[in-house]
Amino acid sequence: MSDLMQEFEEYLTMNLPDIKSFHPYFNDALKKMVIAGGKRFRPLLLLSVIEAYEPLLLKNAYPVALGIELLHTYSLIHDDLPAMDNADLRRGEQTLHKTYDEVSAILVGDALNSHAFYTISVAPLSSEIKIKLVKELSYYGGVGGMVLGQAIDCYFENQKLNIEELKFLHIHKTAKLIATSLKMGAIIARLDIKTQNMLFDFGEQLGLLFQIEDDIIDVTKNSNEAGKTTNNDKDKNSFVNLLGADEAIKQRNELIKKLKKDSASFDEKLANKLITIIDKYFKKEK
Ligand code: IPE
Ligand code: IPE
Ligand code: MG
Ligand code: MG
Ligand code: MG
Repeated sequence: MSDLMQEFEEYLTMNLPDIKSFHPYFNDALKKMVIAGGKRFRPLLLLSVIEAYEPLLLKNAYPVALGIELLHTYSLIHDDLPAMDNADLRRGEQTLHKTYDEVSAILVGDALNSHAFYTISVAPLSSEIKIKLVKELSYYGGVGGMVLGQAIDCYFENQKLNIEELKFLHIHKTAKLIATSLKMGAIIARLDIKTQNMLFDFGEQLGLLFQIEDDIIDVTKNSNEAGKTTNNDKDKNSFVNLLGADEAIKQRNELIKKLKKDSASFDEKLANKLITIIDKYFKKEK
């Protein structure tokens, strides 16, 4: 882990929601899935933009990176519920509803979702910037992205979508939040609107690649290797199910090439960081 992400991890550990009450385990349940880790891909994207353009603002941006990670973690906790993907393993641990109960998993998800906006609201940044950040995360983490994508993902189980619909689903479910992680970094660094939008567009493609990779993982890794329940997409409109494994891998490899090329449209510092991230998360040709 880079020094930056190590430091962010320490910040995250020290700044988790901590609510004492006479509930026997709600406070532990709140933290469990966040501490369990994960790739921290979205915080890394946000912080990379800031490190490239305004490194002095990095610490001020930690609460925002934490907010995105809390919202993302809520989406995973709800995604694993019996009503959705019904998964037993997440981030190398039993899912929250398995360890505790469904009520707790639903409520911890709710709490992490709202706490995401709490952490952003108390960040040492200007109110004007914070309103913009809240606008981005609430929209793309909600009706304009993740939630809509999840609704379509679940509603259309066992019903084949066409390729356009498949892309719409995954762009919303996964890519918009990834795109806005980059854009929120650009907002904090006060980059111009054009660069903000370019980063968002780049992030949508990166997010699409991320979900193609995730769908490939579902059929190529066992649960131990992935740290989450795999072989679980049989009824889903996954890229692998709709395109076939070979074509999904081909599109993955093409997207990697395209994104590395497109990275060059940003300043050199950021371009290098983006290429390093792509190389790290989307290793070797398959
Ligand atoms: C999994 O997200 C769900 C998708 C959007 C594909 P991640 O693969 O980022 O999960 P963690 O955060 O590393 O656990
Ligand atoms: C979930 O996609 C994406 C979210 C918005 C949480 P998946 O259902 O494919 O994620 P995994 O494979 O369970 O991590
Ligand atoms: Mg799902
Ligand atoms: Mg799932
Ligand atoms: Mg998946």
